Formats: sequence, C-alpha cells, structure tokens
Amino acid sequence: ASPNLQAYRASLLHFRADPAFDDQAALWHEDGLLVVEDGRIKAAGDYAALAPTLPPGLEPVDYRGKVIAPGFIDTHLHYPQTDMIASPAPGLLPWLETYTFPTERRFEDPAHARATAEFFLDELLRCGTTTAVVYCTVHPQSVDAFFEASEARNLRMVAGKVLMDRNCPDFLRDLEGDLGQSEDLINKWHKRGRSLYAITPRFAPTSTDVQLRLTGELAARHPDTFIQTHVSENKDECTWVKELFPQARSYLDVYERFGLMRPRALFGHCIWLDDEDFARMAATGSAAAVCPTSNLFLGSGLFDFERADSARALLSLGTDVGAGTSFSMLQTMNEAYKVARLKGSYLPALRMFYLATLGAARSMRLEDTIGSFQPGLEADFVVLDREATPLLARRTGHCDSLEELLFALALLGDDRTIAATYSGGRKVHHR
Ligand code: GUN
Ligand code: ZN
Repeated sequence: ASPNLQAYRASLLHFRADPAFDDQAALWHEDGLLVVEDGRIKAAGDYAALAPTLPPGLEPVDYRGKVIAPGFIDTHLHYPQTDMIASPAPGLLPWLETYTFPTERRFEDPAHARATAEFFLDELLRCGTTTAVVYCTVHPQSVDAFFEASEARNLRMVAGKVLMDRNCPDFLRDLEGDLGQSEDLINKWHKRGRSLYAITPRFAPTSTDVQLRLTGELAARHPDTFIQTHVSENKDECTWVKELFPQARSYLDVYERFGLMRPRALFGHCIWLDDEDFARMAATGSAAAVCPTSNLFLGSGLFDFERADSARALLSLGTDVGAGTSFSMLQTMNEAYKVARLKGSYLPALRMFYLATLGAARSMRLEDTIGSFQPGLEADFVVLDREATPLLARRTGHCDSLEELLFALALLGDDRTIAATYSGGRKVHHR
C-alpha cells in the first residue's frame, strides 16, 4: 500500500449544494469511510462499499461514533486582535479607538507578530478551523509573520495587509497613494504553497478616495486575489460613511464605485444593507461574511438572512475575533441561529454547517480546492466528538434525526467538541 494512503471510519457529513435551496444538498454516511491519498480526498462514502477497495493491511483509523466533516472555514477575523478579545466598549468606533489601534501598533515588531500568529493558528486548529480569511495590520512584517507561521503548518490560509491612510493614528497610516507594499506582498505570498493573498482596505472611512481608487486598480491587476473589508456594521459608522462619501448611493456602493465588488470580494457584517445592495452582492459575485458573535458583542445589529437569501447572495460565517467573542465556528453557529430567530427567520443546523464549509468555499471560489469531500480536494477535515462533554453526550444520546444531532453540536459545542483536526491529510490537533 502507498505509505501516503490513509482511511478514517466515522459518520461523514459534507455538502454538494446549499440546503436552503436544495433538499438533496447534504451527503451523510452514518457508517462512512474517508480515504485520503497524498493529502487529498480519494473517496468518501459508505464503509461497506469502500472498505473492500482498500489495499490489504491498511487498517482505517477508527473514529466510529464520531462525525467527520470538512474543516471549518472562518471568512472574517483579525489575528492581531487575539490579545484584545473580550475588551469592553460601547460600540464599534470607541472600541477601535480604545483597544484596536493601540493593540495593532505592536505588530511593527516582527517577533511579536510571529508569536501572536503562532498562537492564533494553533487556536484555530483547536477549534477545527482549517482555513481562515485574516486581517493583518498595516505593517508588511505582520503579513510576513502570519504567512511564515501558516506555511510552517502547511495551512490553506488567506490574509493581507490592512490599508488605511486617514482617520487613524499616524503610527498606523499608509503613505497616501502608495500601494507598493501590498503589491510586493501579493508577488511574494499569493499562491506560494497554500497561501493566498487578500487585498485589505480596512473600511471606507479609513481610506481616502485616492487609496480606494488605487486599491480597485490593484485588485483589477490581480483578479485571482481576494478582497476583504467591512461594510454596514454599525449605525454610527454608516452615518459617517454618508458624510464622507455623499455621492454614493449606499455604503456598499462606495466599494462598487472603486471597483471593489467582484468574485472573491468578502464583505464583513452587511447588517444595514438594503435590497439593492444585496442584489449588487449577488450580481457581482461578492460574498457576505456574517459575524454574529461580534455583532451581538458590539451591539451592531442583526444580520437579515431572509433578505440576503431573497437576493441569493453568497453567504458564509466569520468569527471576527477580536470583536467576535470566540474562535469556535460551533459557537458562531449558535449565535447565528439566535440572530436569525430575532430577525424572524430560521437557520437549520444543516444550513449552518454548510455555511461553515462548502458555503464559505463557494463564497471564495475555492470549492474545487476545499470545503467538501469531492475526490481530489485537499484533505482538510475535523473529527467531531458528540460525547465531548457530559451534557453533549446526554443530549446527542437521543437524536431522532441528523438535523437534531447537528443542532446539538452547534448549540452545545465548542473547542472541546473537536476531537481532531487534519490539514492536508496530516493531523494538526487532537484532544
Ligand atoms: N471596522 C473597521 N475595522 C474594524 C475591526 O477591526 N473590527 C470590526 N469589527 N469592525 C471594523
Ligand atoms: Zn472585522
């Protein structure tokens, strides 16, 4: 047998479509087998069908009783904010002033950046997140530190240097009109190994028109890079954007005017968007990163799943650490569920697991690389322990449906639920 062939026996869950629009979207194998070769998925299916195809002598790793799902994908968070998670402030703008900017200043020091990136990545893996779309700081060395740490772990990660040239402290300000550092970082890191680059204007208020225009031009020169920014998170922020960009139809329209809406553009929050905004999201292939723990923590507002789904906008979930209060995508699902309820809509657990896996991969145009168990995809997966805590074991001991099981995992689960995390077929975390 090939020394690079492994097999894992467990219940398997993955998706081939969005369960909100297709009732055959979920793929579930109660007694399943996942076969991995050279770090890629070789097969996923029923144990009874696949076990006879294994070479003699290859014993599957026995995860019976557990659930294997694609590794979680977190489409919005800030690694430099790891140390300021759970810092109180009355809303977004005071939170940025009081905690964020002073904390991000420290990333001018490459040693601090590297140590923080190491902790951050290990914490993601502990929570079962194998891909994340990550803000660094304005310092190019913060990007180098991040990608060096993720490359050392062979992780599929997306990150980029924050762009800001106004309404921020001098010590975090880019030179107006100079995007050379971002372009150099694209040339250095984009598609090197598993690293991918995101062009990262922080949000409209901290960029001049000149910077936004040049950012759009940079994005057009590098169409397969990502774009990430924030939009319509907080009411005071929206008022501010109206004052700064009176000619724009809406906050989102500021980005469209500068060429920043396109496939692989990920917009954090999207709380106060109107129907036309969501229609533009869908028409341009842009995607929303919904960040419920952050939105509840800062009191920003409640994402409108129904409005987004009416437009068929691409959706995914983000933790938004450090405004988000957890690295766990399970805890993020928990709060997404409650946000949906408060808005009068309903998020089934199947949908939440979709959003955290294939939905995110589709939002990123990476569905041929990660996010499911189609043969040939990278073998990034999590092993979920439905008995991780006494309470989980008690509740999951009497589930009448897959939906009930996944719902219990989402509502009661956290980092303890992650029995193991695999990236590129290699075990990178276990409990
Ligand atoms: N808007 C601009 N910057 C940030 C940030 O760092 N966090 C959040 N939640 N919103 C922002
Ligand atoms: Zn954010």
